[in-house]
Amino acid sequence: MRLASKIGIVTGAGAGIGRAGALRFAAEGAAIAIVDIDKVKVDAVQLEVTEAGGKAIGLAGDLCDEAFARSIVPQTQAALGGLDFLWNHAGTVGPKDIEDVDYEALERAIQLNLRAGILATEAAIPLLRPRRGNVLFTSSVSGLIASQLSFTYSMTKFGVVGLMRALAKRYAADGVRFNAICPGPVATDMQAASMATMKPVNIPAGRLGRPEEVAAAALFLVSDEASFVTGVALPVDGGYIA
Ligand SMILES: NC(=O)c1ccc[n+]([C@@H]2O[C@H](COP(=O)([O-])OP(=O)(O)OC[C@H]3O[C@@H](n4cnc5c(N)ncnc54)[C@H](O)[C@@H]3O)[C@@H](O)[C@H]2O)c1
Repeated sequence: MRLASKIGIVTGAGAGIGRAGALRFAAEGAAIAIVDIDKVKVDAVQLEVTEAGGKAIGLAGDLCDEAFARSIVPQTQAALGGLDFLWNHAGTVGPKDIEDVDYEALERAIQLNLRAGILATEAAIPLLRPRRGNVLFTSSVSGLIASQLSFTYSMTKFGVVGLMRALAKRYAADGVRFNAICPGPVATDMQAASMATMKPVNIPAGRLGRPEEVAAAALFLVSDEASFVTGVALPVDGGYIA
């Protein structure tokens, strides 16, 4: 098992890519904190993990709430005994059009896509340093090549890559790694709801990605097999940005 005796956090783990990651990491031996705003989904994924013989706790709350975002690391430490990796995965598209900006929604998108990850990472670093752990962020292909579909999305997802790279350099000598995964269009609720205009025909592979395919790449990055990999923004996109 590739994550035997590891302890990890996955945010936005109630559905889609995050859920696939939580299930895969647990199957590879990690104890997982499942973080999501939707308590019903948290409970369902926790049950899936435990029924498959894995170990998980559920933390239901809104990552736009600063106190909750800060609390996920100490709650995980208290329940599971430490932390080896943190996947800041939850994200949102936010206001799409510069000519009609909902500033409250813009603020929430910045909070979820950037600030929540910063708050959780700040709390995680003292735990990750002695264990030579790592932080994985979720950006997007829209964090590597701008998307005209949502300025907020590209702005924050480019920001995620910059944040990750700055932290990777800052902590490389300590052995704490920072990477990002950059999915192309993946068949999830979010994809169906907000990016319906991006048709599979635009993807060289000719289809949407599956959450499990992103989870497999994430597994490599959070595992010790990636011990010399830091500062990387890895596209998982069926050739989309090639
Ligand atoms: N699906 C894609 O095509 C795609 C492509 C590139 C990047 N991504 C990124 O993947 C991440 C999630 O996407 P997905 O497709 O798995 O979505 P999804 O809609 O399937 O799941 C997202 C989960 O996040 C949770 N969530 C939403 N707001 C939250 C909040 N404020 N606090 C806590 N949890 C919250 C939701 O309840 C949901 O369970 C995002 O960061 C997104 O930008 C997705």
